[in-house]
Amino acid sequence: MFKELQDLKSRFERDFFLFLKKSSLKHSPPLLREATLYSLSGRNKRIRPVLSLEAARVLNLNYQAALCIASAVECLHTYSLVHDDLPAMDNDDFRRGQLSCHKKYGEATAILVGDLLQSLSFEFLASANLFPKAIVYFARAVGSQGMVSGQFLDMESQGENTMRMHQMKTGRLIEASIALPFFALEKKLNRRVAHWGRLLGLLFQITDDLLDATQSSSTLGKTAGKDAAQNKKTVVALWGKNGAQQYADELTNLLTQRAKIIFPNSPLFLKLPAFLSNRNA
Ligand code: IPE
Ligand code: IPE
Ligand code: MG
Ligand code: MG
Ligand code: MG
Repeated sequence: MFKELQDLKSRFERDFFLFLKKSSLKHSPPLLREATLYSLSGRNKRIRPVLSLEAARVLNLNYQAALCIASAVECLHTYSLVHDDLPAMDNDDFRRGQLSCHKKYGEATAILVGDLLQSLSFEFLASANLFPKAIVYFARAVGSQGMVSGQFLDMESQGENTMRMHQMKTGRLIEASIALPFFALEKKLNRRVAHWGRLLGLLFQITDDLLDATQSSSTLGKTAGKDAAQNKKTVVALWGKNGAQQYADELTNLLTQRAKIIFPNSPLFLKLPAFLSNRNA
């Protein structure tokens, strides 16, 4: 992990858990709260909140608003992981280097942890003082036009367009993570930024597919080789490892070139595409 990324990740983790402690999470039953904090912990990268914090830094946004947005996207993402691992979905026993939420706390609790994380996410976002359109945009990006619909297509798998599915299930939330801070200054979605974010999300999921096929479970902190075992329509299934790698390399170049133009003051955004496509977990 390069320095700018590591610094922002550490700052987020310190402030996020303090922020959570003071949030309405304190009113939930202790065991539900414990399972929620457990799911938010473990070995992970915090890519989405870092995207929000860096976009906010570039825009000179106040840090409290930035932290609200970053916390919102991390909660939403973690909810998607907790549900993704459920037996009815990918049925994965490991996540973030530890037992998945349902393995440790049971299925009913894991379902409710996801539900709670989703509502917390909207609560945090609503506190960020953005133009109201931001909430509608986020709701669609994680619901009907994004993550939830993409996950549905992933489960159905048959005959779907893999790139479209990836952009929905992963790309839209990553897009939102970077685009949301712009709603502090602009009433409408910043399309140039959103497009970059969506492509970064596509690159992220292609790399995730490659890692599933090439890395060990201990490196990943989640079960490797599951996509082939479950017959998922990944980019690797579609084009093979070499084809997927070639596409990832092309996307990386494109994103790096575009970052120079869109974010001239962000070394982090410049380095991020190459980092994400070369990561090993
Ligand atoms: C995993 O996301 C799920 C995908 C969308 C591919 P991450 O790889 O960002 O998981 P964490 O947050 O680092 O655990
Ligand atoms: C999950 O994709 C994307 C989500 C929206 C959670 P995967 O099913 O490939 O994610 P992993 O590999 O389990 O982390
Ligand atoms: Mg899945
Ligand atoms: Mg999965
Ligand atoms: Mg995967």
